[in-house]
Amino acid sequence: MRFQGKTVLITGGASGMGKLSGLCFAREGAKIALVDFNQKALNEAVAEIRAITEDVIGCCADVRVYDQAAECCRKTVEAFGAIDILIPFAGGAEARILKAKGDFKEQPIEVFEFGLDVNLKGAVYFAHAALQQMAEQMSGVIVFIGSITGEEGSGSNVAYAASKSALMNGVVKSIAICGAKYNVRSFCVAPGPVLTRPAMANMKTMAGRAAEPQELVDMIMYLASEKGAFVNGTTLLMDGGRNVMPRG
Ligand SMILES: NC(=O)c1ccc[n+]([C@@H]2O[C@H](COP(=O)([O-])OP(=O)(O)OC[C@H]3O[C@@H](n4cnc5c(N)ncnc54)[C@H](O)[C@@H]3O)[C@@H](O)[C@H]2O)c1
Repeated sequence: MRFQGKTVLITGGASGMGKLSGLCFAREGAKIALVDFNQKALNEAVAEIRAITEDVIGCCADVRVYDQAAECCRKTVEAFGAIDILIPFAGGAEARILKAKGDFKEQPIEVFEFGLDVNLKGAVYFAHAALQQMAEQMSGVIVFIGSITGEEGSGSNVAYAASKSALMNGVVKSIAICGAKYNVRSFCVAPGPVLTRPAMANMKTMAGRAAEPQELVDMIMYLASEKGAFVNGTTLLMDGGRNVMPRG
């Protein structure tokens, strides 16, 4: 019960690693606020967590809209009195989400804008909104989610690559610096392929496989717990060694 009494706010909480995190933190005593713009999936995820704890709320919101981010933080504090851990999971590669064809040059520029809005601004909006409460309570942990694509770049998902690079460097470092005087720490976990979708099994790693979502969630929980108290302003690339695979 490492997170007994703690409040964890998770965006992208209706599916994948976000939903799994909600379930796992709840099993260890946390109160959970799940954010997603997919109302139906959000309701289902909240119902699953409610089987573990009564202390769960859902907030249907689009992370691209700052006022909605602020409202979800407000509702979380109203329900539970604090925001102890923020994990902005919501995101994804824009070409896949928008079913945009071709490479960056062939895509309308709106595809790039959408990718930045969801992956970069969405995470930073929630960090900004949650920091208001964390500063007041003089404690907090913000966990950004990067990607191996932030290291490698992508010809068809430029905004995704740029956003994840930013979260893994400028954003996580800046939020750690800003958060220090409020006793708020921040780190980033950057996955390689994770089997939230079967297609991720096609991405090569030195480990010869993609990660199970549980492996990522276990690491995030360790780093977000007291055991991870000395981890701040940095990124863990958790990619099965893909980044150091011999190329060529
Ligand atoms: N799966 C992987 O292989 C992998 C690899 C590296 C990084 N990541 C990152 O991990 C995070 C989670 O990935 P996953 O595969 O578990 O996710 P997923 O695709 O299963 O879930 C993403 C969730 O975010 C929600 N969402 C998307 N846009 C939103 C918006 N504008 N407002 C509110 N909610 C929104 C979706 O409805 C969905 O429930 C993402 O940031 C992703 O980029 C995933």
